[in-house]
Amino acid sequence: MNYNVDEKGYYGEFGGAFIPEMLYPNVENLRQQYLKIMAEPSFKKEFDQLLKDYVGRPSPLYFAKRLSEKYNTKVYLKREDLNHTGAHKVNNTIGQILMAKRLGKSRIIAETGAGQHGVATATVCALMGMECIVYMGEIDIARQAPNVARMKMLGAKVRPAKSGSRTLKDATNEAIRDWINNPVDTHYIIGSAIGPHPYPDMVTRFQSIISEEIKWQLKEKEGRENPDYVVACIGGGSNAAGTFYHFLHEKEVGIIAVEAAGLGVDSGESAATSVLGKMGIIHGCKTLLMQTTDGQITEPYSISAGLDYPGVGPMHAHLYKTGRAEFIAVTDDEAMQAGMVLSKLEGIIPAIESSHAFAILETRKFQPEDVVVFNLSGRGDKDLDTYIKYFKL
Ligand SMILES: Cc1ncc(COP(=O)(O)O)c(C=O)c1O
Repeated sequence: MNYNVDEKGYYGEFGGAFIPEMLYPNVENLRQQYLKIMAEPSFKKEFDQLLKDYVGRPSPLYFAKRLSEKYNTKVYLKREDLNHTGAHKVNNTIGQILMAKRLGKSRIIAETGAGQHGVATATVCALMGMECIVYMGEIDIARQAPNVARMKMLGAKVRPAKSGSRTLKDATNEAIRDWINNPVDTHYIIGSAIGPHPYPDMVTRFQSIISEEIKWQLKEKEGRENPDYVVACIGGGSNAAGTFYHFLHEKEVGIIAVEAAGLGVDSGESAATSVLGKMGIIHGCKTLLMQTTDGQITEPYSISAGLDYPGVGPMHAHLYKTGRAEFIAVTDDEAMQAGMVLSKLEGIIPAIESSHAFAILETRKFQPEDVVVFNLSGRGDKDLDTYIKYFKL
Protein backbone atom coordinates (compact mmCIF):
# COMPACT_ATOMS: atom_id res chain seq x y z
CA MET A 1 0.00 0.00 0.00
CA ASN A 2 1.29 3.44 -0.95
CA TYR A 3 0.48 6.30 1.40
CA ASN A 4 2.33 8.98 -0.54
CA VAL A 5 0.85 11.01 -3.35
CA ASP A 6 0.87 9.36 -6.80
CA GLU A 7 1.98 11.03 -10.03
CA LYS A 8 -1.58 12.21 -10.70
CA GLY A 9 -1.86 13.95 -7.35
CA TYR A 10 -3.97 11.33 -5.57
CA TYR A 11 -3.74 9.45 -2.29
CA GLY A 12 -5.81 6.41 -3.21
CA GLU A 13 -9.15 7.89 -4.23
CA PHE A 14 -8.54 11.26 -2.55
CA GLY A 15 -6.76 14.39 -3.76
CA GLY A 16 -6.56 15.81 -7.29
CA ALA A 17 -6.90 19.43 -8.35
CA PHE A 18 -10.46 20.69 -8.73
CA ILE A 19 -9.98 24.35 -9.50
CA PRO A 20 -11.61 27.13 -11.50
CA GLU A 21 -10.09 27.55 -14.95
CA MET A 22 -8.73 30.97 -13.94
CA LEU A 23 -6.40 29.31 -11.42
CA TYR A 24 -5.23 26.52 -13.69
CA PRO A 25 -2.05 28.27 -14.97
CA ASN A 26 -0.90 29.05 -11.41
CA VAL A 27 -1.56 25.63 -9.96
CA GLU A 28 -0.17 23.86 -13.02
CA ASN A 29 2.99 25.95 -12.95
CA LEU A 30 3.44 25.13 -9.27
CA ARG A 31 2.84 21.44 -9.99
CA GLN A 32 5.49 21.40 -12.69
CA GLN A 33 8.04 23.33 -10.64
CA TYR A 34 7.72 22.39 -6.98
CA LEU A 35 9.76 19.18 -6.89
CA LYS A 36 12.44 20.61 -9.16
CA ILE A 37 12.77 23.74 -7.03
CA MET A 38 12.80 21.78 -3.78
CA ALA A 39 15.60 19.60 -5.14
CA GLU A 40 17.83 22.55 -6.08
CA PRO A 41 20.90 22.64 -3.82
CA SER A 42 20.54 26.43 -3.35
CA PHE A 43 16.90 26.01 -2.25
CA LYS A 44 17.79 23.25 0.18
CA LYS A 45 20.65 25.27 1.59
CA GLU A 46 18.51 28.37 2.18
CA PHE A 47 15.62 26.32 3.62
CA ASP A 48 17.86 24.38 6.02
CA GLN A 49 19.71 27.51 7.09
CA LEU A 50 16.52 29.42 7.89
CA LEU A 51 15.03 26.45 9.75
CA LYS A 52 18.16 26.32 11.87
CA ASP A 53 19.03 29.96 12.49
CA TYR A 54 15.64 31.64 12.21
CA VAL A 55 13.11 29.03 13.35
CA GLY A 56 15.44 27.45 15.90
CA ARG A 57 15.37 23.88 14.64
CA PRO A 58 15.84 21.10 15.49
CA SER A 59 12.96 21.36 17.94
CA PRO A 60 13.65 19.21 21.03
CA LEU A 61 12.18 15.77 21.57
CA TYR A 62 11.38 15.92 25.26
CA PHE A 63 10.75 12.92 27.52
CA ALA A 64 7.75 13.94 29.65
CA LYS A 65 8.56 12.16 32.89
CA ARG A 66 5.58 13.17 34.99
CA LEU A 67 3.09 12.65 32.19
CA SER A 68 4.66 9.23 31.57
CA GLU A 69 4.26 8.31 35.24
CA LYS A 70 0.62 9.43 35.32
CA TYR A 71 -0.36 7.40 32.26
CA ASN A 72 2.09 4.52 32.78
CA THR A 73 3.71 4.67 29.35
CA LYS A 74 6.71 6.48 27.82
CA VAL A 75 5.51 9.84 26.56
CA TYR A 76 7.73 12.02 24.39
CA LEU A 77 6.77 15.51 23.22
CA LYS A 78 8.02 16.88 19.91
CA ARG A 79 8.36 20.54 20.82
CA GLU A 80 7.06 22.41 17.77
CA ASP A 81 5.72 24.93 20.29
CA LEU A 82 9.28 26.17 20.70
CA ASN A 83 9.63 27.20 17.06
CA HIS A 84 9.83 30.90 16.24
CA THR A 85 6.21 32.18 16.10
CA GLY A 86 5.04 29.37 18.38
CA ALA A 87 3.86 26.52 16.16
CA HIS A 88 4.74 24.11 13.38
CA LYS A 89 3.18 26.41 10.75
CA VAL A 90 6.44 28.29 10.16
CA ASN A 91 8.17 25.21 8.68
CA ASN A 92 5.77 25.43 5.77
CA THR A 93 5.73 29.21 5.35
CA ILE A 94 9.54 29.33 5.17
CA GLY A 95 9.42 26.70 2.42
CA GLN A 96 6.62 28.40 0.52
CA ILE A 97 8.06 31.92 0.64
CA LEU A 98 11.29 30.56 -0.87
CA MET A 99 9.18 28.78 -3.47
CA ALA A 100 7.22 32.00 -4.21
CA LYS A 101 10.44 33.94 -4.72
CA ARG A 102 11.73 31.40 -7.20
CA LEU A 103 8.39 31.49 -9.04
CA GLY A 104 8.84 35.27 -9.40
CA LYS A 105 5.89 36.27 -7.17
CA SER A 106 5.84 39.47 -5.13
CA ARG A 107 2.48 39.40 -3.33
CA ILE A 108 1.44 36.77 -0.77
CA ILE A 109 -2.03 35.80 0.36
CA ALA A 110 -2.97 33.31 3.08
CA GLU A 111 -5.95 32.07 5.07
CA THR A 112 -5.81 31.49 8.79
CA GLY A 113 -7.96 29.96 11.51
CA ALA A 114 -6.10 30.05 14.80
CA GLY A 115 -3.95 32.84 13.42
CA GLN A 116 -0.77 30.75 13.72
CA HIS A 117 -0.49 30.28 9.98
CA GLY A 118 -1.32 33.95 9.45
CA VAL A 119 1.42 34.97 11.87
CA ALA A 120 3.88 32.53 10.29
CA THR A 121 3.05 33.93 6.84
CA ALA A 122 3.26 37.57 7.97
CA THR A 123 6.61 36.73 9.57
CA VAL A 124 8.22 35.31 6.44
CA CYS A 125 6.79 38.17 4.35
CA ALA A 126 8.44 40.66 6.71
CA LEU A 127 11.64 38.64 6.44
CA MET A 128 11.57 38.73 2.64
CA GLY A 129 10.03 42.19 2.20
CA MET A 130 6.87 40.95 0.49
CA GLU A 131 3.32 42.30 0.59
CA CYS A 132 1.07 40.10 2.76
CA ILE A 133 -2.72 39.80 2.97
CA VAL A 134 -4.26 37.35 5.42
CA TYR A 135 -7.92 36.31 5.31
CA MET A 136 -9.44 35.35 8.65
CA GLY A 137 -13.01 34.57 9.74
CA GLU A 138 -14.69 37.24 11.87
CA ILE A 139 -15.25 34.74 14.69
CA ASP A 140 -11.58 33.75 14.68
CA ILE A 141 -10.50 37.39 14.66
CA ALA A 142 -12.38 37.76 17.94
CA ARG A 143 -11.15 34.56 19.62
CA GLN A 144 -7.50 34.83 18.53
CA ALA A 145 -6.98 38.55 19.08
CA PRO A 146 -3.29 38.36 20.10
CA ASN A 147 -2.43 36.77 16.76
CA VAL A 148 -4.34 39.45 14.85
CA ALA A 149 -2.25 42.10 16.59
CA ARG A 150 0.93 40.19 15.81
CA MET A 151 0.07 39.98 12.10
CA LYS A 152 -0.60 43.71 11.97
CA MET A 153 2.65 44.48 13.74
CA LEU A 154 4.48 42.34 11.20
CA GLY A 155 3.06 44.48 8.41
CA ALA A 156 0.27 42.22 7.12
CA LYS A 157 -3.24 43.31 6.24
CA VAL A 158 -5.86 41.18 7.96
CA ARG A 159 -9.10 40.95 5.98
CA PRO A 160 -12.20 39.55 7.72
CA ALA A 161 -14.27 36.76 6.15
CA LYS A 162 -17.87 37.55 6.93
CA SER A 163 -19.76 34.70 5.23
CA GLY A 164 -20.87 31.25 6.45
CA SER A 165 -19.59 30.21 9.86
CA ARG A 166 -17.06 33.10 9.63
CA THR A 167 -14.21 30.72 10.41
CA LEU A 168 -11.41 28.96 8.52
CA LYS A 169 -13.46 27.56 5.62
CA ASP A 170 -14.81 31.02 4.82
CA ALA A 171 -11.36 32.62 5.08
CA THR A 172 -10.10 30.02 2.57
CA ASN A 173 -12.94 30.89 0.18
CA GLU A 174 -11.94 34.56 0.35
CA ALA A 175 -8.27 33.75 -0.29
CA ILE A 176 -9.18 31.66 -3.35
CA ARG A 177 -11.34 34.56 -4.62
CA ASP A 178 -8.39 36.92 -4.21
CA TRP A 179 -6.09 34.54 -6.12
CA ILE A 180 -8.54 34.34 -9.00
CA ASN A 181 -8.48 38.16 -9.19
CA ASN A 182 -4.68 38.40 -8.88
CA PRO A 183 -3.29 35.38 -10.68
CA VAL A 184 -0.03 36.84 -11.99
CA ASP A 185 1.94 38.42 -9.15
CA THR A 186 0.40 36.50 -6.24
CA HIS A 187 1.32 33.24 -4.53
CA TYR A 188 -1.22 31.66 -2.20
CA ILE A 189 0.52 30.14 0.85
CA ILE A 190 -1.95 27.47 1.96
CA GLY A 191 -1.44 26.66 5.62
CA SER A 192 -2.42 23.03 5.80
CA ALA A 193 -2.07 19.74 3.93
CA ILE A 194 -5.15 20.60 1.93
CA GLY A 195 -5.99 22.32 -1.37
CA PRO A 196 -5.43 21.27 -4.97
CA HIS A 197 -2.45 19.09 -5.87
CA PRO A 198 0.46 19.81 -5.38
CA TYR A 199 -0.33 21.71 -2.14
CA PRO A 200 -1.02 18.73 0.15
CA ASP A 201 2.21 17.06 -0.94
CA MET A 202 4.28 20.25 -0.90
CA VAL A 203 3.08 21.23 2.59
CA THR A 204 3.64 17.66 3.82
CA ARG A 205 7.21 17.67 2.51
CA PHE A 206 7.99 20.99 4.21
CA GLN A 207 6.51 19.68 7.47
CA SER A 208 8.20 16.28 7.18
CA ILE A 209 11.20 17.78 8.99
CA ILE A 210 9.21 16.91 12.14
CA SER A 211 9.36 13.13 11.63
CA GLU A 212 12.85 13.34 10.13
CA GLU A 213 14.08 14.82 13.41
CA ILE A 214 12.02 12.46 15.58
CA LYS A 215 13.86 9.52 13.97
CA TRP A 216 17.40 10.58 14.89
CA GLN A 217 16.36 12.10 18.19
CA LEU A 218 14.66 8.88 19.27
CA LYS A 219 17.67 6.88 18.15
CA GLU A 220 19.77 8.98 20.54
CA LYS A 221 17.32 8.60 23.42
CA GLU A 222 15.88 5.10 23.02
CA GLY A 223 18.40 3.43 20.71
CA ARG A 224 15.79 3.01 17.99
CA GLU A 225 14.40 5.26 15.27
CA ASN A 226 10.81 4.09 15.35
CA PRO A 227 8.43 4.79 18.23
CA ASP A 228 5.50 2.49 18.90
CA TYR A 229 3.05 5.32 18.21
CA VAL A 230 3.02 8.82 16.79
CA VAL A 231 0.09 11.04 17.73
CA ALA A 232 -1.01 14.39 16.31
CA CYS A 233 -4.12 16.54 16.13
CA ILE A 234 -5.76 17.18 12.78
CA GLY A 235 -7.30 20.35 11.45
CA GLY A 236 -6.51 20.30 7.75
CA GLY A 237 -3.70 17.96 8.69
CA SER A 238 -0.29 19.62 8.24
CA ASN A 239 1.30 18.97 11.64
CA ALA A 240 -0.02 15.41 11.52
CA ALA A 241 1.25 14.89 7.97
CA GLY A 242 4.72 16.07 8.99
CA THR A 243 4.70 13.92 12.13
CA PHE A 244 3.56 10.79 10.29
CA TYR A 245 5.48 11.21 7.02
CA HIS A 246 8.63 9.16 7.68
CA PHE A 247 6.64 6.49 9.56
CA LEU A 248 3.89 5.93 7.00
CA HIS A 249 5.54 2.84 5.59
CA GLU A 250 7.04 1.59 8.88
CA LYS A 251 4.52 -1.08 9.79
CA GLU A 252 5.48 -1.32 13.44
CA VAL A 253 4.66 2.34 14.05
CA GLY A 254 1.04 2.97 15.05
CA ILE A 255 -0.36 6.22 13.71
CA ILE A 256 -3.01 8.06 15.72
CA ALA A 257 -4.87 11.09 14.37
CA VAL A 258 -6.95 13.15 16.78
CA GLU A 259 -9.89 15.20 15.57
CA ALA A 260 -12.05 17.77 17.31
CA ALA A 261 -15.41 16.37 18.39
CA GLY A 262 -16.52 19.82 19.59
CA LEU A 263 -19.55 19.38 21.86
CA GLY A 264 -19.74 15.70 20.85
CA VAL A 265 -19.63 13.79 17.58
CA ASP A 266 -23.45 13.52 17.42
CA SER A 267 -24.22 16.95 18.85
CA GLY A 268 -24.41 18.80 15.54
CA GLU A 269 -21.57 20.98 16.86
CA SER A 270 -18.48 19.07 15.81
CA ALA A 271 -15.50 18.99 13.46
CA ALA A 272 -14.87 15.21 13.53
CA THR A 273 -14.53 14.84 9.78
CA SER A 274 -13.50 11.20 9.60
CA VAL A 275 -16.67 10.06 11.39
CA LEU A 276 -19.07 12.65 9.99
CA GLY A 277 -17.57 13.24 6.55
CA LYS A 278 -18.31 11.76 3.15
CA MET A 279 -16.40 12.05 -0.08
CA GLY A 280 -16.73 15.56 -1.48
CA ILE A 281 -14.75 18.43 -2.91
CA ILE A 282 -13.52 21.32 -0.80
CA HIS A 283 -10.96 24.00 -1.61
CA GLY A 284 -9.67 22.18 -4.67
CA CYS A 285 -9.37 18.58 -3.54
CA LYS A 286 -11.49 15.48 -3.27
CA THR A 287 -11.55 14.36 0.33
CA LEU A 288 -13.72 13.51 3.32
CA LEU A 289 -15.99 16.43 4.00
CA MET A 290 -18.81 17.17 6.41
CA GLN A 291 -21.86 17.81 4.24
CA THR A 292 -25.64 17.60 4.09
CA THR A 293 -27.36 14.89 2.03
CA ASP A 294 -27.58 17.33 -0.88
CA GLY A 295 -23.87 18.13 -0.72
CA GLN A 296 -23.87 21.48 1.10
CA ILE A 297 -20.94 21.87 3.49
CA THR A 298 -21.97 21.50 7.14
CA GLU A 299 -20.70 24.28 9.40
CA PRO A 300 -18.05 22.77 11.68
CA TYR A 301 -17.55 23.63 15.33
CA SER A 302 -14.64 23.29 17.76
CA ILE A 303 -13.46 25.40 20.68
CA SER A 304 -10.13 25.34 18.88
CA ALA A 305 -9.91 27.71 15.92
CA GLY A 306 -7.25 25.61 14.19
CA LEU A 307 -9.35 22.43 14.18
CA ASP A 308 -12.61 24.11 13.18
CA TYR A 309 -12.60 22.88 9.58
CA PRO A 310 -15.19 20.69 7.80
CA GLY A 311 -12.66 18.70 5.76
CA VAL A 312 -9.40 16.88 6.25
CA GLY A 313 -6.36 16.69 3.95
CA PRO A 314 -6.55 13.96 1.28
CA MET A 315 -3.61 12.04 2.73
CA HIS A 316 -5.47 11.67 6.02
CA ALA A 317 -8.69 10.67 4.26
CA HIS A 318 -6.64 7.88 2.65
CA LEU A 319 -5.04 6.89 5.97
CA TYR A 320 -8.52 6.68 7.47
CA LYS A 321 -10.08 4.76 4.60
CA THR A 322 -7.24 2.21 4.45
CA GLY A 323 -7.15 1.80 8.22
CA ARG A 324 -3.45 2.77 8.35
CA ALA A 325 -4.22 5.41 10.98
CA GLU A 326 -6.46 5.16 14.01
CA PHE A 327 -8.75 8.19 14.30
CA ILE A 328 -9.97 9.38 17.69
CA ALA A 329 -12.36 12.29 18.28
CA VAL A 330 -11.90 14.42 21.40
CA THR A 331 -14.46 16.88 22.81
CA ASP A 332 -13.84 20.50 23.81
CA ASP A 333 -14.05 19.53 27.48
CA GLU A 334 -11.62 16.64 27.17
CA ALA A 335 -9.13 18.83 25.31
CA MET A 336 -9.35 21.68 27.81
CA GLN A 337 -8.76 19.27 30.72
CA ALA A 338 -5.78 17.75 28.91
CA GLY A 339 -4.33 21.24 28.40
CA MET A 340 -4.57 21.78 32.14
CA VAL A 341 -2.92 18.41 32.92
CA LEU A 342 0.04 19.19 30.65
CA SER A 343 0.39 22.66 32.17
CA LYS A 344 0.33 21.35 35.75
CA LEU A 345 2.49 18.24 35.23
CA GLU A 346 5.10 19.48 32.78
CA GLY A 347 4.99 23.26 32.98
CA ILE A 348 3.97 23.51 29.35
CA ILE A 349 0.81 25.37 28.30
CA PRO A 350 -0.19 23.90 24.94
CA ALA A 351 -2.23 25.38 22.11
CA ILE A 352 -5.79 24.07 22.39
CA GLU A 353 -5.29 22.28 19.07
CA SER A 354 -2.40 20.30 20.57
CA SER A 355 -4.38 19.67 23.79
CA HIS A 356 -6.73 17.52 21.72
CA ALA A 357 -3.89 15.08 21.02
CA PHE A 358 -2.96 14.73 24.70
CA ALA A 359 -6.57 14.08 25.70
CA ILE A 360 -6.41 10.56 24.28
CA LEU A 361 -4.15 9.55 27.17
CA GLU A 362 -7.27 9.41 29.37
CA THR A 363 -9.01 6.78 27.26
CA ARG A 364 -6.53 5.13 24.88
CA LYS A 365 -4.44 2.70 26.87
CA PHE A 366 -0.78 2.13 26.02
CA GLN A 367 1.65 -0.48 27.40
CA PRO A 368 4.22 0.66 30.02
CA GLU A 369 7.09 -0.05 27.59
CA ASP A 370 5.43 1.71 24.63
CA VAL A 371 7.19 4.79 23.28
CA VAL A 372 4.50 7.27 22.31
CA VAL A 373 5.53 10.48 20.56
CA PHE A 374 3.03 13.36 20.67
CA ASN A 375 3.48 16.29 18.38
CA LEU A 376 3.08 19.40 20.51
CA SER A 377 2.10 21.51 17.52
CA GLY A 378 1.94 24.89 19.24
CA ARG A 379 2.11 26.91 22.43
CA GLY A 380 -0.93 28.17 24.29
CA ASP A 381 -0.23 31.90 24.47
CA LYS A 382 -2.77 32.65 21.75
CA ASP A 383 -5.40 30.65 23.68
CA LEU A 384 -4.99 32.19 27.11
CA ASP A 385 -8.27 34.07 26.79
CA THR A 386 -10.14 30.86 26.02
CA TYR A 387 -8.42 29.04 28.91
CA ILE A 388 -9.22 31.96 31.23
CA LYS A 389 -12.91 31.93 30.32
CA TYR A 390 -13.21 28.14 30.43
CA PHE A 391 -11.51 27.62 33.79
CA LYS A 392 -12.60 31.01 35.22
CA LEU A 393 -8.94 31.71 36.04
C1 LIG B 1 -0.97 24.98 17.08
C2 LIG B 1 -1.79 24.40 15.98
N1 LIG B 1 -1.91 23.06 15.88
C3 LIG B 1 -2.64 22.48 14.90
C4 LIG B 1 -3.32 23.24 13.97
C5 LIG B 1 -4.14 22.55 12.94
O1 LIG B 1 -3.63 22.65 11.65
P1 LIG B 1 -2.98 21.42 10.92
O2 LIG B 1 -3.99 20.30 10.98
O3 LIG B 1 -2.76 21.89 9.53
O4 LIG B 1 -1.73 21.07 11.61
C6 LIG B 1 -3.22 24.64 14.02
C7 LIG B 1 -3.92 25.47 13.05
O5 LIG B 1 -3.96 26.66 13.09
C8 LIG B 1 -2.43 25.24 15.06
O6 LIG B 1 -2.30 26.56 15.17
